[in-house]
Parts: sequence; C-alpha cells; structure tokens
Amino acid sequence: MSEATMVPDISRTVQKWRKKRGSLIMALHEIQNAYGYVPRNVSLQLAQLMDVPLARIYEVITFYNYFRLEPPGKNVVSVCMGTACYLKGAKERENEFCEQLGVEEGETTEDGQVHLQSVRCVGCCGLSPVVVVNGETMGKIGPEDVKSIIRKCREEH
Ligand code: FES
Repeated sequence: MSEATMVPDISRTVQKWRKKRGSLIMALHEIQNAYGYVPRNVSLQLAQLMDVPLARIYEVITFYNYFRLEPPGKNVVSVCMGTACYLKGAKERENEFCEQLGVEEGETTEDGQVHLQSVRCVGCCGLSPVVVVNGETMGKIGPEDVKSIIRKCREEH
C-alpha cells in the first residue's frame, strides 16, 4: 500500500472547476466522492475559496438527493471504479470488502461502523487501484490491504 495522502486538496478542486459551468456542483461532487459526504468544515472552505455564500452551498446540497451532510457510517470506505482502477483489480478489492464486511456496495455494516461505496475516478490514477478511507487516499491496494483497512477502521473509531 503506498503512502496515504489527504484528499481532496480543496484549493486544487476549486481551481480545476472555477471557470467551468456548474463549478460549485462539480466541486461538491468531487468532495462527496472522496468523503462519502460533504463535511461542514469543507463547505466553509469551499465558500471562502469560491467566494460564494455558505447558504448557497447548503441550498445546492439539500436540493440534490445525491449529496449528504452526515457520514453514512462512522467510517466511509470508497473504492474507486474509474477505468484505471478497474483495470488494476478494483472490482476484486470491492468484492473482498463486501465479503469481509458482510455488506453489498452502497451499504453500511449493521453496527454502523463502515459504509462501503464505489466512486468514480478520484484523480490519482497513477496509484491505482485506489481506496479512499474517510477522505484519505490510499493507493496500490492489494488483497492483503483490505483486512488491514477494515481493522484500522474498527480500531480507530
Ligand atoms: S481511475 Fe481510480 S483514481 Fe483514476
């Protein structure tokens, strides 16, 4: 497993979308993808960097069902299913998570500890296959990493 890095870098996300149409929604999508929800502190950062009122951000979040304000489980494990990750075995990794957690993709374990979801490309294709755990990107995930990620989630929370 390669070294973990915090993503997304919100200022990078903002720069990427700033001049494009629907930039706020695209930036929110990227954030939701990485965290599994849109944390309040990230909304605040986004409001400052994009120079939009925080109320506008909440208007968008609450309008679209897709966005969440709360994490769906204590820990959110997102398996990237973008093309690069898929080709490097992301589906197999997801199946291992499903098996070990006893859930399907999109579900939360009965004890509420882990939510498993698949996401689109998170922008670190060079590290594929990539898994994002509570907003932290982990790359080159092998079968042996699945167990340790689950253990870490359960120990830390
Ligand atoms: S396809 Fe997974 S990070 Fe790009």
